[in-house]
Amino acid sequence: MILLAIESSCDETSAAVMVHGELRSNIISTQLIHTEWGGVVPELASRAHQKSIIPVVQEALQKANINKNDLNAIAFTRGPGLLGALMIGTSFAKALALSLDIPLIDVNHMQAHVLAHFIEEPRPAFPFLCLTVSGGHTQLVWVKSALDMEIIGETMDDAVGEAFDKTAKLIGLPYPGGPLIDKLAKEGNPDRFPFPMGEMPGLNFSFSGIKTSILYFLQKQVAMNPKFIEENKADICASVQKTLIEILLRKVKKAMVQTGCKQIAIAGGVSANSGLRTRIQEMGAKQGWEVYIPAFSYCTDNAGMIAMAAHFKAEAGEFCGQDVSPLASLSFLA
Ligand code: KG4
Ligand code: ZN
Repeated sequence: MILLAIESSCDETSAAVMVHGELRSNIISTQLIHTEWGGVVPELASRAHQKSIIPVVQEALQKANINKNDLNAIAFTRGPGLLGALMIGTSFAKALALSLDIPLIDVNHMQAHVLAHFIEEPRPAFPFLCLTVSGGHTQLVWVKSALDMEIIGETMDDAVGEAFDKTAKLIGLPYPGGPLIDKLAKEGNPDRFPFPMGEMPGLNFSFSGIKTSILYFLQKQVAMNPKFIEENKADICASVQKTLIEILLRKVKKAMVQTGCKQIAIAGGVSANSGLRTRIQEMGAKQGWEVYIPAFSYCTDNAGMIAMAAHFKAEAGEFCGQDVSPLASLSFLA
């Protein structure tokens, strides 16, 4: 099975080629245009996808040394994501599949983040728990098999990636601020400014409260000292990052106890965070868990993970027809 996969749900245009389950190429073009706007502008994202999709696909085929006529199926992200952005990838995939007379495979972006763990060793064994943390989602997923997953906890408001990005904006860092907070946090004192963690019932999360408390804290400090942010940037980043990670890990621990599971995986853009990677490894060592952390290139959006999910779907004979359309808020059950 030779697959071409396309990812276009947000601000990365990506294409990958997978041959019999082995990833041969994974080309990612990150849209830089959003930086000056402080967040992803949906219309600009769609236009940028339209511009880069053909060169990105060509590069992916070239790097994998695969001719388009050798392809057996085309996979694409159906959702969740920005509708206009999804439309570009879906339409392209449909047109190419039609012209080559090969089937389509629609992929759920969040399931693909989880399945990124199967691109290379070490691979978790089913069932396992996955904390999927991205710019749009924060989920605790009980992964029964590649195609059978259940969300057992999720955010009731903002995603943790959003909390990272909005904090970054408040302290004058460009979008996406998560990686910049991570970098600055390394030089700061995480215990300097304690922020309230709040507590949601069960396995659910909430990040809107902490976002507001960071805003009020900064407003109050800046009123007293206009140079407060400038003088304390690293400590602010380290303190915020520590709080966000603790909120995540409290629920991870609770979910591990509840499920009796001994394997924990992290996935999604925020799983690239060095603080989270270190803390979950420390926690795992203490609790006797096996911890699975993806390579950096498979944390943030990439078509390699879409190809991996599509590979599992192809093995199960799950293809879709030309009548498929993107779904901006696709859930696991759709
Ligand atoms: O999975 P992803 O690429 O896109 C979505 O599906 O949303 O995740 C993007 C999110 C952004 O919020 C970005 O700031 C965050 O992942 N992110 C990070 C780091 N790298 C990316 N957050 C914290 N630390 C990082 N190193
Ligand atoms: Zn994503």
